[in-house]
Amino acid sequence: MRLRIEPFLYAIAASAAAVLLGQWLGQDALQRALYTARFTARVGVPLVLLIYTASSLHRLWPGTGTAWLSRNRRSLGLGFALTHTVHLAAVLNYIAQPGSPPQPAAGILGYVFIYLMAFSSNPGSMKQLGQWWHRLHAAGVQIVFLYFLVGYASMVFEPELRPLGLTVVPLLLAALGVRIAAWRARRVAGGAV
Ligand code: HEM
Repeated sequence: MRLRIEPFLYAIAASAAAVLLGQWLGQDALQRALYTARFTARVGVPLVLLIYTASSLHRLWPGTGTAWLSRNRRSLGLGFALTHTVHLAAVLNYIAQPGSPPQPAAGILGYVFIYLMAFSSNPGSMKQLGQWWHRLHAAGVQIVFLYFLVGYASMVFEPELRPLGLTVVPLLLAALGVRIAAWRARRVAGGAV
């Protein structure tokens, strides 16, 4: 279960670019903090899409690329945990800014699942937790996906962010479609996803 470096290189480079861009585009301290909070979550979208569809894509279209994705979900997941740790730091910085609006606590549950999955992403925990490991990761992936879907769907109702919402929501729904198609294919074939 060797880790791959590519998702971590992406996570470090994309998060660094997100922070620099947020600090550069913001007009004042509060806006710099807000933009940095936005961009540090936004760079997680490609990883969430890949993690959510990896094994389903391999089931529907077996090949070298989809095999790589399916085999390296752990590295992709840990790469996402890294980008979202930067989001957490950016969010705490935003909350600390004078004049920043109160934030809903709902995101805390998301972080509980992100870190439970990250810290149990090793053979020892898999063996120790057994069925509960699969239940934790199956639920955790759906919960993270839901946070992104709700986050971007809500942007459709905000004029400033509508174009972004209308771009990312179809991608997320397509990923959901891939999972449902793989699940149906599994049922037809009578095997595991
Ligand atoms: C207590 C925990 C969290 C807080 C306080 C928080 C706070 C924020 C803030 C302030 C923004 C910018 C909002 C805006 O544009 O007005 C943001 C954006 C976002 N957050 Fe979080 N967040 C938290 C947890 C999470 C979690 C767990 C996820 C997903 C698993 C997540 C995903 C996102 C996404 C997708 C965006 C939109 C990024 C974009 O603009 O493209 N957040 N968050």
